[in-house]
Amino acid sequence: MSAGTAPNLAAIPLVDLRAQHAALREEIVAGIEQVLVRSDFIHGGDVGRFEEEFAAACGAGHGIGCGNGTDALHLAVRALDIGPGDEVIVPAMTFVATALGVSLAGATPVLVDVDPNTALIDPTRLEAAITAKTKAIIAVHLYGQCADMTAIAAIASRHGLAVIEDAAQAHGASHHGRPAGSLATLACFSFYPGKNLGACGDGGMVVAQDPALAARLRRLSNLGSERKYHHEEIAPNSRLDTVQAAVLRVKLKWLPEWTRLRRSHAAAYDSALAPIERIQKTTSDEGSVYHLYVVRSNRRDADLAALNQAGLGAGIHYPFALHQLGAYRHLGYAGGSFPIAEDWAARCLSLPIYAELPTSAFGRAATVLSQAA
Ligand SMILES: Cc1ncc(COP(=O)(O)O)c(C=O)c1O
Repeated sequence: MSAGTAPNLAAIPLVDLRAQHAALREEIVAGIEQVLVRSDFIHGGDVGRFEEEFAAACGAGHGIGCGNGTDALHLAVRALDIGPGDEVIVPAMTFVATALGVSLAGATPVLVDVDPNTALIDPTRLEAAITAKTKAIIAVHLYGQCADMTAIAAIASRHGLAVIEDAAQAHGASHHGRPAGSLATLACFSFYPGKNLGACGDGGMVVAQDPALAARLRRLSNLGSERKYHHEEIAPNSRLDTVQAAVLRVKLKWLPEWTRLRRSHAAAYDSALAPIERIQKTTSDEGSVYHLYVVRSNRRDADLAALNQAGLGAGIHYPFALHQLGAYRHLGYAGGSFPIAEDWAARCLSLPIYAELPTSAFGRAATVLSQAA
C-alpha cells in the first residue's frame, strides 16, 4: 500500500449465512444424512421433535410446522374462522406477508399507523380502526422487538378481538420477560434462511396454547385432512419438510448465543453512532433480538449509497408502507393516510447485523456516516 492509499477493506454484507454454515456444517450434514437414511421426508420424526422443542422455547404448548411464515399467518387467520367479510388490523409498516396472510384467508387488512420511534403498531391508534367487522389484530414484532402486547391485549379483550403475533423476525425476543410466541392466541414464525433462526430453504411455524386450535392448524396445513384421504375442508398443502426440521434442530441450540451476540453488536453500533446527531437510532428494549439494526437518516438514499460504496451492505426495511404497494392500492388509502409509516419508509436504513459480524463494522459504519454528513 502506498502512502495515502486507503486500505482495501473486505466487504461486510447485510447478512452473511456462510460463516454460520461453515461452523455448523458437520452437524447439519449429519442431521440431513439421518433423514436420508430414514427417508421420512414428510411429517418425519425431526418435524415432531422440532415442533416440540421450538414451542417449548416460546413458552407455548403446541407448534405446527408449515411451509413458510406467510403460510403461518394465512393458516393462523383461517384457524380463527376469519374470512371474507371480516377485517384484521395490521401495522402500516411491516413486510408485506403480514397483510398477505389476511388477504389469502379472504379477509381485509385494515391498516394502523406505527410508533414514530420504533415502527411498531401504535396501540393508541387501534381503537379508531375497530369496526363491527373487526375480528383480530396482528401485532408485528418488527426488527426483533416485541410490540406493546400489554396495551394491545387490553384493547383486544375490551372489544372481544383475537390477537396474532407476527413473530417472523423475533425468535427468542421477549416482552416484560415473556417470550414472543406466548403473548397472544397464536404466533407465527418464519424460518426463511436470513431469519435469526433460519432453515436451509423455506419453513414456518404457528405456535398455540389451545389444543383445539392446534388440531385445526394441523388439519389446515395438511390439505384439510387429519387422517389420510379424509379431507374435511379446503386447505393448502403447507408442511415443514423433515430435512428443514433436522437443520433447524441443530440451529435452535445456538439461538441464545446468536441472540447474545446480536445484542452486543447492536450496543456497539449504538455507541459508535451516538456522536452522529443526524442519525437517529431506533428505540429498542432489552427484549429485542435485533433481527435488523435500523436507524433513520434525513438523507437516507445518499447514506445507503455511501455505505454500499464503502463495502458495507446496508439495506432498507421497508421502502414502502403497505398502502403504497400495488397489491394494496385497492384498499383505497390515499398518500398521507399513514404519515409515520410513510416517513419511516423514506428514512429507514438497516446496517449489517448477524452473529458473526466482524467488529470492524461499527467503526466503519460510523466513519462513512459521519463523512457523508
Ligand atoms: C414480519 C414478517 N412477516 C412474515 C414474513 C413471511 O415469512 P416467509 O418469508 O417465511 O414467508 C416475514 C419474512 O419474510 C416477515 O419479516
